[in-house]
Amino acid sequence: METLTVEASRTYEVKIGAGLLDRAGELSAPLVAGRDAVIVSDSNVWPLYGRRVADSLTRAGFRVGEFIFPAGEASKTTGTLVELLTALARRGLTRQDAVFALGGGVTGDMAGLAAALYLRGVPCIQLPTSLLAAVDSSVGGKTAVDLPEGKNLVGTFTQPYLVLCDTGTLDTLPPAVLAEGWAEIIKYGMIRSRELLDFLWERPAGEDLDWVIAHCLSIKRDVVAEDERDNAVRQVLNFGHTIGHAIERCSGYSIFHGEGVAMGMAIMTRACVRQGKCPAECWTVLERLLDKYQLPKRCDVAPERLLEAARADKKRRGEAITLIQPREPGECVLFRTDYGELARVLELGM
Ligand code: GLY
Repeated sequence: METLTVEASRTYEVKIGAGLLDRAGELSAPLVAGRDAVIVSDSNVWPLYGRRVADSLTRAGFRVGEFIFPAGEASKTTGTLVELLTALARRGLTRQDAVFALGGGVTGDMAGLAAALYLRGVPCIQLPTSLLAAVDSSVGGKTAVDLPEGKNLVGTFTQPYLVLCDTGTLDTLPPAVLAEGWAEIIKYGMIRSRELLDFLWERPAGEDLDWVIAHCLSIKRDVVAEDERDNAVRQVLNFGHTIGHAIERCSGYSIFHGEGVAMGMAIMTRACVRQGKCPAECWTVLERLLDKYQLPKRCDVAPERLLEAARADKKRRGEAITLIQPREPGECVLFRTDYGELARVLELGM
């Protein structure tokens, strides 16, 4: 088992290893004064792991309730959030008690937000069951739900009390869902770790997954410790995301987030190579990893449509935009610019 300590506005541990769901009660009990617990999960994950977590919490003396919602991004709404808050209030959960987020990114983001808002904040323990949630969304304290106007428009920065990544849960993921996580893992390599890029290329996919997840999260830990509220260096974690989100939006969210990120990283890297901003090796290293992990490298949406979709966020962020650009394999830099530059990137990188 690997353990990391995140030092942000709250200091907490992230544990990574097989079988941790069965230890959720034992490991969280010392952090939570009360003994009432609500497990938030979706209709896919609850049947797989809900009973194991509930039994573990019961063994540690918790009284356990559950809130289960239909799986999918379509549930990540203010409507479901209010249903969840209402369920917590009707149960009489107190500030001493805890919410457990059992599932992927949608569950973690929404349960984290409910825990941040209910009674102005109750403890939240993250139990990620997708590779994407394990390497990214469960750590760092971003919580959110979507609005019809866009993804993650309502949220907070609220750090969890504990994160338990049970790597046993990753065995049951469909290949496309697993691929999403690989896209984020490759992202960590591109932004901060040549060592990880080499490891991902040289070793069979999935080997030493505990180490891979811990390595990614150690990068995230350092970035979050430096810039918890996403004002500066944390934005490097968005490599591939500005264009990726635009592709997702143009697809009507019919593609996976990780596929959008993969295409976004590819477009940005090709453009930077063509602009002479980084060596051609950045593209060859990225390309062979996207191929190996069966991720897309090109998208067939017109650059003008992508620009328009990216601009849809303009009201929130103004005319300026921060692009994350490779400088060499294992290093990306922030580039504060405008949408004209994004248009050039899209023309050059498609
Ligand atoms: N997923 C990017 C971040 O947590 O900042």
